[in-house]
Amino acid sequence: MKKESLTNIGGAATIQTASGHHGEVRGINLSRRSSQFEGRFGRMFRTLPPAEFDKEMLDDLGDAMTAEAEDDPTPETAATPDDEENIGTKRDPGISAGYTYLGQFIDHDLTFDPASSLERENDPDGLVDYRTPRFDLDCLYGRGPDDQPYLYRNDGKHMLLGDKLKGTNSDSGARGLPRNKPDDNEPARALIGDPRNDENVIVSQLQAAMIRFHNRVLDEKVDSFSDAQRFVRWHYQWVVLYDFLPTIIGRDTFSEILPHYAKGHKSNVVKDPPRLKFYKVKGNAPYMPIEFSVAAYRFGHSMIRPLYRINGSTERLPVFSNRRKEESLVGFRPTPENLAIDWRLFFDMGNNPPRVGKKRVQPAYKIDTSLVNPLGRMPKSVGANFPSLAQRNLLRGWRMQLPSGQDVARAMGVTPIPDDRLKIGKANHDGIKENEPLVSRNAKFKDNAPLWFYILAEAQQQFRKNDAPIRLGEVGGRIVGEVFVGLMMEDSNSFLRQNPLFRPQLPFKGKDFKMADLLTWATKLKLNGRD
Ligand code: HEM
Repeated sequence: MKKESLTNIGGAATIQTASGHHGEVRGINLSRRSSQFEGRFGRMFRTLPPAEFDKEMLDDLGDAMTAEAEDDPTPETAATPDDEENIGTKRDPGISAGYTYLGQFIDHDLTFDPASSLERENDPDGLVDYRTPRFDLDCLYGRGPDDQPYLYRNDGKHMLLGDKLKGTNSDSGARGLPRNKPDDNEPARALIGDPRNDENVIVSQLQAAMIRFHNRVLDEKVDSFSDAQRFVRWHYQWVVLYDFLPTIIGRDTFSEILPHYAKGHKSNVVKDPPRLKFYKVKGNAPYMPIEFSVAAYRFGHSMIRPLYRINGSTERLPVFSNRRKEESLVGFRPTPENLAIDWRLFFDMGNNPPRVGKKRVQPAYKIDTSLVNPLGRMPKSVGANFPSLAQRNLLRGWRMQLPSGQDVARAMGVTPIPDDRLKIGKANHDGIKENEPLVSRNAKFKDNAPLWFYILAEAQQQFRKNDAPIRLGEVGGRIVGEVFVGLMMEDSNSFLRQNPLFRPQLPFKGKDFKMADLLTWATKLKLNGRD
């Protein structure tokens, strides 16, 4: 029986709901029929020369960017937040920890370079992006029920979930990811669209929540797989565009790129088209710029906290622990059954502070030139034989021949930040006084900062005192914003292209539909469930 028609979604344009009618949603079968399932990498600033470094100076910088281990990182019961945290004011709230993992999830939807060998010099034009450069949730759907039936229930529509998880009263339906059951000591790998979405306990439960979203849409809203997929994709795209993006790049840069937004959804992208100055699509095929995938969009690595509280009934756990893997949040293994996520500790669900004992929503760490200590010693399952994430990012940027941050700034018409203000370390009171300038570390960095470092240092310039969130700056914000909007505008199946009048069809509490609303509906979250 048809539950709800998607016709007139958004009030004007219509979409047929009958299965198979009015065009099959792209993506399901794309891989087998079209070479476009895999995207291309390319360059945004093709004419700029590559920045020149050597391995030693980058290894040394990576070390310096990796913070000392914290003895007791910010208890969430603290009355005042720690100054590592990206907090703001009541009117201008900071960035909560859920956005870090939503950011990682989005990354895995857009870009995957499995050939990320650090030994080779990489030519972006020769590289294949194993994800489509579109917000089409290929990390969730894989290549669809025909091609990857092991991701789907027998009906070929609903998606499979894993074991039940416990630990929070807010979500009695919490489930882990489906996994294979291998012999002996072989790892029980998650059966999901992108293996990286099992990298840690948080992103794997975000993946499970998206599966539950898809399944609930099928149970209550539409009948066919393709309608459910479109429903899920468009709501997710809405969240990416109007919640995640302004949270990360700030409302000013966001409104410059999407001028219709300042008119409060009264306008749309057809009446007021996006203003993209630097992300130009070559020959009508969108590409994944390495300035984004190897530098700007890796900003999220600096937002990772060393410890997280997953729910009200477990202690805080470290992101990695090389000694006691089972007592960490590392993934690529069945999620421990007491680690059901209480999403109220990750997103502001509108009843902040959440009623989870005295615990509060955990903020992300600041976007700055400092990564927490565990990221300097990633376990083999994540980092292979190369345990420092900062060093990996810096070496990748060099091998991929990225231009310097200063050259990119100039090409964007932005005066580069002077060398003495590009500093290594945390954006907090002590850091402002004591952080070492990049050029003091090595004179070869004079007017020659690695692009990833520059974008983090640029964000850090916003720090005055702990009363404003730190978002990406002019260069980083423009690259991330333009690539997001450009990719969505180039995707002929996105809501911006098919129906710019689309509005979310699910209940939401605030002024706009956000990730918190999507999760609340997808998981039937009990906002006042006490633990
Ligand atoms: C605990 C969380 C995370 C871990 C352990 C992690 C780890 C990694 C590792 C090991 C790589 C491969 C690096 C290389 O060899 O080049 C990588 C790539 C990447 N990461 Fe993360 N990451 C995390 C979260 C994030 C977040 C929050 C973001 C952004 C918001 C992000 C963005 C990226 C991007 C854009 C790439 C390149 C992807 C590609 O093109 O293949 N990551 N990450």
